[in-house]
Amino acid sequence: MNKIRYGIIGLGNMGNGHLAYFDKLENATLGALCDVDPGKRSWVQSRYPDVPMFSSHKELLTSGTCDAIIISVPHYDHMPIAADAFEKNIHVLCEKPLAVSVKAGREGIAAYENALKKNPNLKFGIMFNQRSNPLFQKVRELVRAGELGEISRITWLVTNWFRSWAYYASGGWRATWKGEGGGVLINQCPHNLDLIQWVVNGLVPNRVTAVGSVGKTHPIEVEDEISAILEYPNGAVGHFVTTTGEAPGTNRLEICGSRGKIVVEDGKVIFFRTRVDIQEFNRTTKEGFATPETWRIEMPIGRFPAFEHQVITQDFTNVVLKNKPNTDLLAPGPEGIFGLEIGNAIMMSGLTRTPVTLPVDGAKYDAFIDDMAKKYGGKKTLQTQSVQADMAASFQKV
Ligand SMILES: NC(=O)c1ccc[n+]([C@@H]2O[C@H](COP(=O)([O-])OP(=O)(O)OC[C@H]3O[C@@H](n4cnc5c(N)ncnc54)[C@H](O)[C@@H]3O)[C@@H](O)[C@H]2O)c1
Repeated sequence: MNKIRYGIIGLGNMGNGHLAYFDKLENATLGALCDVDPGKRSWVQSRYPDVPMFSSHKELLTSGTCDAIIISVPHYDHMPIAADAFEKNIHVLCEKPLAVSVKAGREGIAAYENALKKNPNLKFGIMFNQRSNPLFQKVRELVRAGELGEISRITWLVTNWFRSWAYYASGGWRATWKGEGGGVLINQCPHNLDLIQWVVNGLVPNRVTAVGSVGKTHPIEVEDEISAILEYPNGAVGHFVTTTGEAPGTNRLEICGSRGKIVVEDGKVIFFRTRVDIQEFNRTTKEGFATPETWRIEMPIGRFPAFEHQVITQDFTNVVLKNKPNTDLLAPGPEGIFGLEIGNAIMMSGLTRTPVTLPVDGAKYDAFIDDMAKKYGGKKTLQTQSVQADMAASFQKV
């Protein structure tokens, strides 16, 4: 095989996003397309008349047209479609989030591990396109090299996910418990919830305490604002603050360690590096009001890719073609569970106003989603309307 034939399942906003860069990929070709919506099918088919089109993912998977699929349908269907593909020995690159709940996420990973027994070459990736962002790559590199010392605080204020009422009206599934399984945490934040553990080399909290609000700035039935305090096994503390209703938004990530502080904001990584270890200075200085000498360094960073999603798909293509280990992927699918754990914990804590410990109890979380659907279901009062053109143009910003 010298080219991967991809099937794209889900031809909405993001499916069209993937189509937009497809002809720029090396060693990849479009094998088939699929959507359950006849309108989406005819819209896309008119632009790709020679590519086989299917109305069901199962037909696509048995058609022999694809070696790999990109899943870009609403979140609840991610893992069921992935499991069907693994069974047919088809590689999967799945959109974020991995799933709505940790239980579904764990089941998807188990289906992959099971399929690996029959076909050890099968690959499973996830579209964490922001892992290709050189800012976050630099932070991860510094932390992994030990430059920041022992991590003591991780704070992410990410309030620049502003979304209008029209956005929530653009799909019936959006901002509903049954259709989407949450709001800002499950749709916009999966990137941040992944990066908040990825940049610190997989450090995840073991307890979360949060305050969240349902429909605070939009007539929707899910959370559109949430603030959380994260506690880590090593004693570090974290903060995660997000909303889709605040403007102008802030996007500032601060990570403190025993060798200083890293700040990611405004397209820069600034390392405030202490000359000596802070705890060492603390113990040994004889001056009551002294603080460690600090150097402000604007870190050199690599080039921003023209299109982050293309980087992930190209990386996936290369790993499949060269049959490298799945863990060589920039974004291996099973790693989607880490951010999902954090997101589920924040959601459940924020809306029940009770601390949640990790790993999250899967059955308890699914029962919580059912409770939310009973309590708030139907409170989304927006009429579904198409804003496809706007969204296709704007999704590249996120
Ligand atoms: N990585 C990113 O930056 C990014 C950006 C936007 C969306 N996404 C993700 O992509 C997914 C889709 O989001 P969207 O904004 O494109 O939604 P959308 O509503 O615009 O498109 C979803 C499409 O999937 C189709 N569909 C639904 N169920 C299907 C099924 N079982 N089989 C085939 N087609 C089906 C719908 O008809 C629709 O055309 C979501 O999970 C979202 O989180 C990721």
